[in-house]
Amino acid sequence: MAAMWSPIIGLLLLLLQLAPSSSSYIQLPLEGSVHPVGYFYVTMNIGGKPYSLDIDTGSNLTWLECKYPGHQCNTCKGPHRPYEPNRHHKKVMCGDQFCTDLHKDLPHYPEPRCYTQHPHECHYHIQYVGGTSSEGFIVNDTVSVDVLSPSLPSRRVQIFFGFGCGCNQKPLKDSPVDGVLGLGMGKVGFVAQLKAHNVIRKDIIGHCLSIDGGGYLFVGEHHLPDHITWAPMRKYSHYYTPGPAQLLLGGEKIGSQKMVVFDSGTT
Ligand SMILES: *[C@@H]1O[C@H](CO)[C@@H](O)[C@H](O)[C@H]1NC(C)=O
Ligand SMILES: *[C@@H]1O[C@H](CO)[C@@H](O)[C@H](O)[C@H]1NC(C)=O
Repeated sequence: MAAMWSPIIGLLLLLLQLAPSSSSYIQLPLEGSVHPVGYFYVTMNIGGKPYSLDIDTGSNLTWLECKYPGHQCNTCKGPHRPYEPNRHHKKVMCGDQFCTDLHKDLPHYPEPRCYTQHPHECHYHIQYVGGTSSEGFIVNDTVSVDVLSPSLPSRRVQIFFGFGCGCNQKPLKDSPVDGVLGLGMGKVGFVAQLKAHNVIRKDIIGHCLSIDGGGYLFVGEHHLPDHITWAPMRKYSHYYTPGPAQLLLGGEKIGSQKMVVFDSGTT
């Protein structure tokens, strides 16, 4: 969710190819619209319950509105009840690899010290360019996804995945979503975790946003439409970007060449 906006005219297709190999993917219907909802989101089963998540190619960490045992949480009111880690959920501690990766993937958040004698839960704080923020602890629970591939029937797969239990969100207000699905290129991103669990082999993401609202999101190797123009993504950027570009609105140039980023989390 960077400070950018882009007019969505007709169908927008975003494709990011990052690495090679075989063909499986997940596809999720999108709900929401540019206006009046202001979000595009998927509904996914996490810990056996459904949650609506804002799809965000502009950030790495997935998080949910959450009630954390022993903590007073200030959560926004989303469409579903906040996630509550149960007794059996696997904790992610400050010394764990996931936590180290997390602090690399959240560039502006300094890693709190981890005392090996008294390791504490892995804490995160994510500040979006729009001024909103989420803070909480990393938990590890299952997510169920239907995996598709051309040669096999669809199969439901459950994987453990690390995400934020968002215990303090700002500003506090009602929201059409229960959290954010981090689709950025970081190790803690949803795509990297699907790949690490061999659910997908190729980390390609695509979304198709309808001008009437809705659409779909896929992750993995999908049957791609013909006539796609590919542009290499710049490395070493916080965001997916093809570099500087001239934007046109109804054929008219908008300002001069600008650095553009693909950020589905910004309306
Ligand atoms: C979550 O727990 C599972 C099962 O114990 C483990 O394999 C996985 O690595 C854990 N993931 C994270 C992010 O801690
Ligand atoms: C996501 O993680 C990658 C890899 O650590 C990092 O380069 C990038 O800046 C992160 N993106 C954002 C928006 O924080």
